Amino acid sequence: MDKLQIQGGVPLEGEVRISGAKNATLPILAGALLADGPVVVGNVPHLKDVTTTVELLGGMGATVTIDERMRIEVDPTTVRDYSAPYELVKTMRASILVLGPLVARYGRADVSLPGGCAIGARPVNIHVAGLQALGADITIDGGYIRARADRLRGTRLVLDTVTVTGTENLMMAAVLAEGETVIENAAREPEVVDLANFLTSMGAKIRGAGTDKIVVEGVERLSGTSYEVLPDRIESGTYLVAGAITGGHVRIKNTRPDHLDAVLVKLQEAGAKVGVGENWVEVDMRGRRPRAVDVRTAPYPAFPTDMQAQFAALNTVADGVGTIIETIFENRFMHMLEMRRLGAEIRLEGNTAIIHGVGHLKAAPVMATDLRASASLVLAGLVAEGRTEVERIYHIDRGYEAIEEKLSQLGAQIKRVPN
Ligand code: EPU
Repeated sequence: MDKLQIQGGVPLEGEVRISGAKNATLPILAGALLADGPVVVGNVPHLKDVTTTVELLGGMGATVTIDERMRIEVDPTTVRDYSAPYELVKTMRASILVLGPLVARYGRADVSLPGGCAIGARPVNIHVAGLQALGADITIDGGYIRARADRLRGTRLVLDTVTVTGTENLMMAAVLAEGETVIENAAREPEVVDLANFLTSMGAKIRGAGTDKIVVEGVERLSGTSYEVLPDRIESGTYLVAGAITGGHVRIKNTRPDHLDAVLVKLQEAGAKVGVGENWVEVDMRGRRPRAVDVRTAPYPAFPTDMQAQFAALNTVADGVGTIIETIFENRFMHMLEMRRLGAEIRLEGNTAIIHGVGHLKAAPVMATDLRASASLVLAGLVAEGRTEVERIYHIDRGYEAIEEKLSQLGAQIKRVPN
């Protein structure tokens, strides 16, 4: 198992290219199951979760090919097996995204129920209840969600909680249902919109994606398509914080500034100069210490839970006291305990972390517990005095393409070494 070694203290300088969004790629690849012909997906990031999804689709019998530029072609016409096995689902919860497409297109799905997760309970009851309302017959048996249906029937769904993959699963189920489906209290994340655009390019009829009310007019069939995934807003935000925390000057390219509003406001509050162009953003914190910021996570367009840990890292070395309130996941503070090992002063009270900025962090070995937690530990390592080692970085490889290469490009002293 590899680890990352980081020699802290270098202000980052330069440009970095942002990859395609993980959380758009995964539903789009699952959505390829809905097509009657081959689907080609471009701007796919080279990530472990993408490999797992390819394995999942391949296991069902889909013909999947990947070229050297990470364009993935999925031909779903060879699918013969309608299941997502526990062995894969336990490594990637987003495997649940095949549930809606399988039921809608093939009338059956056996998808392992995801178990617990390092960041919270993360049930899938809303996915299941929505599919039942669309007419699927669902039982839980042997740890599997077993769904059966003739053609699904459109209906009005009012989601209990705003759920990203829940909205995506139900939208994918509704596109082939008979009649109209209305999804109320839908997630408004850009990745939901990207999925809707992808489905529309296959012939689906969807209105309102990006608002809290999505209306889907079911169609009889969907054709193959070719689609480019949108840039990753969380990877974008992570490199911007890397620039800010190190007192550097970083420009990110191939991004979507309009998806970063809440993050850019916080960077400005922290004292960074932020510049924005059509597809780039730059952050300049040269010669200054960041000011502590208060952050409260909530569904898009509010501040994303997936950026909370990175701003916690920023607060550990900022001037003042910053408060982080996590409202989406009940156990997403594991990184705070690791950052304490670097000398951070953090008090936890329920879903609130109160962080007193300290002058310096000091290097220590730390352990990654989930994807965004590991990113925050790398950020902390970039400013800690001495050599920080981040262990269990398989988490980071699930969601950050070539992170050590991209950070090295910005001047960071970071390398991957075997443990
Ligand atoms: N929830 C329920 N019941 C459900 C579904 C969700 O109670 O049936 C609750 C969850 O427990 C949570 C809240 O609703 O408290 C919101 O969770 P959501 O369903 O939106 O999360 P998700 O769809 O499982 C996606 C991203 C996460 C990201 C969250 C929140 C993907 C593949 N994953 O997860 O990304 O944190 O939305 O924005 O899109 C990551 O990339 O590191 C990551 C964890």
